[in-house]
Amino acid sequence: MDVAAQKTAAAAAALEHVEAGMRLGIGTGSTAEAFVALLAERVAAGLAVVGVATSERTAALCRDLSIPLTTLDETPELDLTIDGADEVDGALRLVKGGGGALLREKIVAAASARMIVIADAAKLVEALGTFALPIEVNRFGLASTRIAIERAADRLGLSGTIDLRRRGRDPFETDGGHLILDASFGRIPDPEALSLALHAVPGVVEHGLFLGLATMAVIASQDGVETVESSP
Ligand code: A5P
Repeated sequence: MDVAAQKTAAAAAALEHVEAGMRLGIGTGSTAEAFVALLAERVAAGLAVVGVATSERTAALCRDLSIPLTTLDETPELDLTIDGADEVDGALRLVKGGGGALLREKIVAAASARMIVIADAAKLVEALGTFALPIEVNRFGLASTRIAIERAADRLGLSGTIDLRRRGRDPFETDGGHLILDASFGRIPDPEALSLALHAVPGVVEHGLFLGLATMAVIASQDGVETVESSP
């Protein structure tokens, strides 16, 4: 199985957890898009579900494929979110936001009773941090926020480059109108401590550490699909 096939295999395995009548959170990224394509086939065949998209990009894809959408204002509690990740560790802690949708992804995941992460085997890591950590920040005070993030990381023994994400020559703008700093701290030994430290920086809107949100990961490799569940 190549990587694209692994993403589709993980998506297909996650789809088995979708039941009629469910209120779904629908993720962002290439793996989530594989899920959306399969979900659309089931919807076309009569499966009644309603979804909240985690990005404008995913919302547009769902509309194209006639997947019924709602909003968190209309449907504030969801049954299940299915989304990709940039990294997954053995405790189901995630790094997300490579596609820039981390804020809506986290709001949707937090509004869901369950979250299934779908990923190819390359995303499974022993420790988070090889993938640069996306941090969504307010435009106002960008330079000050970056320094405050550096200092907060330093207090935890973390250092590395913090790059403003760009799309072409312009700063990348999220669906919420914010910017993203990609922090290359390397191995993150204590994600919970880093999460608290980042949340204490006023200009930080949200960060890409998803802790205690995923309840299951479906990881596809060349050898097949493996399921990792959170311990009770
Ligand atoms: C989007 O902001 C991200 O959190 C994605 O879920 C993550 O980057 C995984 O994307 P791929 O499935 O494209 O690797």
